[in-house]
Amino acid sequence: MTPSLGTCLFTLLALGGSTVADAAPGSHENVKRDDLTCSGFALRPVGEVNACIDFLHSRGDTTCAINGRASDFCTTGGTKITGFNYSNKESVSSLCRDVAYSLQKVLDSCTRYRGVAGGNAAGENADIFVSIQPA
Ligand SMILES: *[C@@H]1O[C@H](CO)[C@@H](O)[C@H](O)[C@H]1NC(C)=O
Repeated sequence: MTPSLGTCLFTLLALGGSTVADAAPGSHENVKRDDLTCSGFALRPVGEVNACIDFLHSRGDTTCAINGRASDFCTTGGTKITGFNYSNKESVSSLCRDVAYSLQKVLDSCTRYRGVAGGNAAGENADIFVSIQPA
């Protein structure tokens, strides 16, 4: 299957070269690619993150692909799931199911009160660092 932009999006956003999360707090720059981290990202409601996990899990072995330096895989309410291009390869993707598993680990490790903040490598290849962001 050819990875394509928008395969995994709830909402197809206009993704320009520098429009995604460039200036957002919680940029991936200081995070090692295989790190699960609970810090450096904004706290988002657990229910919204759960909705995106369910959505991405339901996509199964559909490809969640990066176009450029970052792509959004899911947006709901005030929360979006952004994957960063970590490997600098020409083609960067994970199975959407693996993105969901990675997010589930963030949810399991980083939930406080009714919020969760964090990011994690997506899937086995660590080509993508997936993060919870404000939409
Ligand atoms: C990932 O980033 C590198 C460096 O900016 C770029 O050369 C590569 O084309 C990007 N990959 C994708 C899939 O956009």
